[in-house]
Amino acid sequence: MSRTVYVNGEYVPEEEAKISVFDRGFLFADGVYEVTSVLDGKLVDFAGHMTRLDRSLNELGMKRPVDDAQMEAIHRELIVQNELEEGMIYLQVTRGAADRDFAYPSEDTPPSLVLFTQSKPLVDTAASQNGIKVAFVDDIRWGRRDIKTVQLLAPSMCKMAAKAQGADDAWMVEEEHVTEGTSNNAYIVTKSGTIVTRNLSNSILHGITRAAVLRLAAESQMKVEERPFTPEEAKDAAEAFVTAASSFVQPVVEIDGVTLGDGKPGPIAKRLREIYIAEARAQAI
Ligand code: PDD
Repeated sequence: MSRTVYVNGEYVPEEEAKISVFDRGFLFADGVYEVTSVLDGKLVDFAGHMTRLDRSLNELGMKRPVDDAQMEAIHRELIVQNELEEGMIYLQVTRGAADRDFAYPSEDTPPSLVLFTQSKPLVDTAASQNGIKVAFVDDIRWGRRDIKTVQLLAPSMCKMAAKAQGADDAWMVEEEHVTEGTSNNAYIVTKSGTIVTRNLSNSILHGITRAAVLRLAAESQMKVEERPFTPEEAKDAAEAFVTAASSFVQPVVEIDGVTLGDGKPGPIAKRLREIYIAEARAQAI
C-alpha cells in the first residue's frame, strides 16, 4: 500500500513526492532528522524529540520550518492518513535548495521539511525476545555526533562491517572505548549489577530513549554509571543492551563473538524494556 508522505506543506502519495536535486540535504547531507516512535497510534516522547531537533538546528544555524504545534499536527495527520498503530515517524529538515556552493545559501532560503511513516512492530519482536549480536568496529564518524544529521554513510559502513562478521550491529570504538551503536546508545551491566553507559559529550548522540531509561533505572533503584567503557569490559559484562526510539530497550546477547551469560536477554535489560514500554504507552500523546 502506498503511503502518504509530507513534503514542504503538502500530503502526497509517496510516488509523487518530490525534492529538488539542488536540495542541500541531497548534495551536502546538510540536514538534521528525528525519529519518533508510535505506539497505539500515539507519539512517544514527542516533546523530547522537538527539543533535540531545536538543538540540532541551532548548532548548524539552520531555520525551523514550522513550530511545535504545526509539527505535532503533521505527525498526527500522517498517523491518521496512514492508519499507523505501531512504528515510527521520520522527520527531516534541510537547509533547502540552492545552487551548489560550500558556503551556506542566503538566510531567506526556505528550509525543506519531509516526514514519512514506517509501520513496524516495536513491542513484539524476535530481536527483543532473543537479543542481538554486536561486533566492534572503528568509529569513523565526524566529531559532532551530538548533532542528529542525515550524514549516515559512516554508521552504515560500520553496520555493514559488523554484518560481514556475522553480527547484527556494530558497537563503534574510538580511543579504546565504545562510543555507541550505529543507531542506538550502548550499555553494559557489570557482574556486580551496575549499568554502565557512555557519558554525554560530542562523541555520541544524546538519545531521547537513553534519557528516559536512565531516569527509570534510577527510579527503580538500579545503579548507573555514566562513563566510557572498554571493549574488554563489555566482553566481560553480565549483560548488555542498546536503546533507541526504533527498538526501545534491546537486549544484546553476544559481543564480538563472546556470549554473555547464558546467551539469553539478561534480567536487567528485560526489566528495563518492560518498564520503558509501560511508561512510553502511559505518556504517549
Ligand atoms: N537513531 N545513537 C545514534 C547514533 C542514533 O542514530 C540513535 C537514534 C540513538 C538513539 O537515540 P534515540 O533514543 O533518541 O532514538 C543513539 C534513530 C532511531 C535512527 O537513526 O533511526
